Amino acid sequence: MYMTPSSRSVVVLEKLTKSFNGKIAVYQNSYEIEEGTIFGLLGPNGAGKTTTIRLLTGVLKPSEGDAEIYGYRLSRNVNVIRSIVGVLPENRALYDRLTAQENLEFYGKLYGLKDSELYERIRNLLAFLDLHDVKDTFVGKFSMGMRQKVALARALIHQPKLLLLDEPTSNLDPVMSSKLKDYIKELSGKLGTTILISSHHLAEIENICSKIAIINNGHVISVGGINELKRKIWGYREFEIKLLEFKPDFKKIIESISGVADIMYSDNKIFYKCVDAEKVNPPLIKALVQADAKILSLKETERTLEDLYMKLIRGE
Ligand SMILES: Nc1ncnc2c1ncn2[C@@H]1O[C@H](COP(=O)(O)OP(=O)(O)O)[C@@H](O)[C@H]1O
Ligand SMILES: [Mg+2]
Repeated sequence: MYMTPSSRSVVVLEKLTKSFNGKIAVYQNSYEIEEGTIFGLLGPNGAGKTTTIRLLTGVLKPSEGDAEIYGYRLSRNVNVIRSIVGVLPENRALYDRLTAQENLEFYGKLYGLKDSELYERIRNLLAFLDLHDVKDTFVGKFSMGMRQKVALARALIHQPKLLLLDEPTSNLDPVMSSKLKDYIKELSGKLGTTILISSHHLAEIENICSKIAIINNGHVISVGGINELKRKIWGYREFEIKLLEFKPDFKKIIESISGVADIMYSDNKIFYKCVDAEKVNPPLIKALVQADAKILSLKETERTLEDLYMKLIRGE
């Protein structure tokens, strides 16, 4: 079943703070995560990502502040919250002396799943994660990557409304990592699951998160859509027009369009910057076409999430 898009905020952070020995480990100023969003929590090691996830699952008690998750307050209804949240914790917590299958049975029963439903979900998850052949092996004998996959299955077993994934792709091979990302997109698109992913691996996150919070030294320095943040940080966009042939007349035309800045010419390419592409590009293209320019392509210089992150974290 496809959910209709909703803009209901289902995770509301309210100055959620954790200090250890008087030193702030994380201070999540107030922001909201909408239902069905894949939200990236990005920051370098020690930024406070894991602490945030621990706070949201009630493993740690906040020093100050609170959060509301699907209408339940963390300070009052932590048990209800635990039942609607699936978490892949940093330590991939599992019972080493139980097999993969037994771990999943244990957690599934804890969430109150009925046998028929439980066994079918376990079968599907083990197959999806390529764990079927090792399902009867003790988890204590697993490699980091295999352990992580069982822990992922555990996070997913009760089809939680909110998934909190702490560095979910860190030990996975590229094929599994890409499969998992497709699966995450499907959960958000088809079931409306809200997903928070922490990562310091930016290229991994770029294509799946619609919104991000960048944290550094325990403080949130920016929250928003990736494109929105890019626009806010750089303030202008860069374009490249490629022509079949450049004619000197074109210079005058381009320079006559208001809002075009930093124009550069190289062979049959024109580079320029502008703040408001919607106002600048249509008249620019029209004028060029009227002057008989043969336009081969118009391309925007893409800035990666990595560029954004470097700029925000390191000021580069
Ligand atoms: N149990 C703890 N006791 C003391 N300090 C902690 C504890 N857990 C985390 N910290 C500190 O909090 C900060 C944030 O850590 P963490 O949330 O693990 O960062 P991240 O997951 O982004 O790498 C770090 O400075 C870390 O040393
Ligand atoms: Mg961490």
